[in-house]
Amino acid sequence: MPTRPTILVFDSGLGGLTVQREVAKARPDARYVYVADDAFFPYGQHGEQALIDRVVPLMGELIAAHRPDLIVLACNTASTIVLSHLRAAYSVPIVGTVPAIKPACAGSLTKRVSVLGTSGTVKREYTQTLIREFGGGCIVTLVGSPHLASLAEGALGSAGDGITDKAIFDEIAPCFIQDAAGARTDTVVLACTHYPLLLDELTRLAPWPVTWIDPAPAIARRVVGLIGDLQPGAPHGDAVLLYTSGKRHAWPEALAPFFGGQVAA
Ligand code: DGL
Repeated sequence: MPTRPTILVFDSGLGGLTVQREVAKARPDARYVYVADDAFFPYGQHGEQALIDRVVPLMGELIAAHRPDLIVLACNTASTIVLSHLRAAYSVPIVGTVPAIKPACAGSLTKRVSVLGTSGTVKREYTQTLIREFGGGCIVTLVGSPHLASLAEGALGSAGDGITDKAIFDEIAPCFIQDAAGARTDTVVLACTHYPLLLDELTRLAPWPVTWIDPAPAIARRVVGLIGDLQPGAPHGDAVLLYTSGKRHAWPEALAPFFGGQVAA
């Protein structure tokens, strides 16, 4: 691994910035290429084969263009179906993002956990397998949210003005379950990288307090495990943000905190 690695972070949109932010904190010296496949957003509404057909060749083009040392597939909807195909096709190490069911179930005191993801992610066999292997006796409720990723995407742009509390509440309400004996959900897995962008709103609108599990810090630790720790005195890295639609972000200053303070656009 070079001392100053190139890391390609990929998502359907800006949700992967929640992962990018944690990785950049750990390795601010790396070169970051953040790719938002906005031309195909939202991934949650595409079928499994359509996602494989889209992401596998696109990643090949991105690898050829940017020569990354490591790829972070910062998207649950893609990782739960495309990750194995990407690893079979390309030799670059790829860190995926899959629902954090294991830590959520291990930490739940009421043994009632909800998994909030896109409708694609909650349907996947991959997600079912995680529940079978790591459910640990918890009752796991899968909640496929049709609109929350788009609401979160809008929160980073001018569309943010039109996002209402009711619109967000309607997406998260099915996560909150209370049974006849009074036992209720105490842990919600944020199984879409877009959702931590709305964490303040989710916390404020929750019918009762829960632990929200954001896997980004764990993903950043995995990345550091592969590329190594930040070396003392390493110069600050740089970053570019690319949209597959070819557009440019109109608010680069809103994105800077995700890249360790640099304006990237
Ligand atoms: N950010 C993506 C995820 O983690 C999905 C959003 C979308 O539907 O495109 O699942």
